[in-house]
Amino acid sequence: MKTAVYPGSFDPITYGHIDIIDRASRLFDNVIIAVLNNPSKAPLFTTEERLDMIREATSEIKNVRVDSFSGLLIDYVEQENANTVLKGLRAVSDFEYELQMALMNRKLNRNVETVFMMTSSRYSFLSSSLVKEVARLGGCVKDLVPDYVFDRLLKKYS
Ligand code: PNS
Repeated sequence: MKTAVYPGSFDPITYGHIDIIDRASRLFDNVIIAVLNNPSKAPLFTTEERLDMIREATSEIKNVRVDSFSGLLIDYVEQENANTVLKGLRAVSDFEYELQMALMNRKLNRNVETVFMMTSSRYSFLSSSLVKEVARLGGCVKDLVPDYVFDRLLKKYS
């Protein structure tokens, strides 16, 4: 069984993440979306809220499971008997930090590979941080996140 762990903050999930999840679900037997539970990062949405939104967004994809984790990603990957960390790459600017993390994770466990998927060009500018900033300042993010995420953003900032 090829199981990939797709980790992130997902604060909140965007169409960019969903695009990667959808395409990865055709490459791997199982995809675990792993939400980092890290209160020190002061996320806008609680872990439960983020899990809820991801479950809703991926409910039609059968081989996807949604979970949260704390601590080292590589320990979580091992615990889940997975062999792949999946990451999305938007632009060259993502590459340097992603390379560092991939190499560090390989040093921690050389049996786990990091696989990068290129984000579709229509989402290459998209990030959760930008979505939050634009929503907070009253801009329209309707085309960038699912409707229920849009509604929750509106509530947070109303
Ligand atoms: O969506 P993000 O915030 O860019 O995701 C970053 C994430 C969660 C993938 C990264 O911070 C992570 O793996 N954190 C877990 C702690 C860990 O393993 N750190 C060492 C990474 S080499």
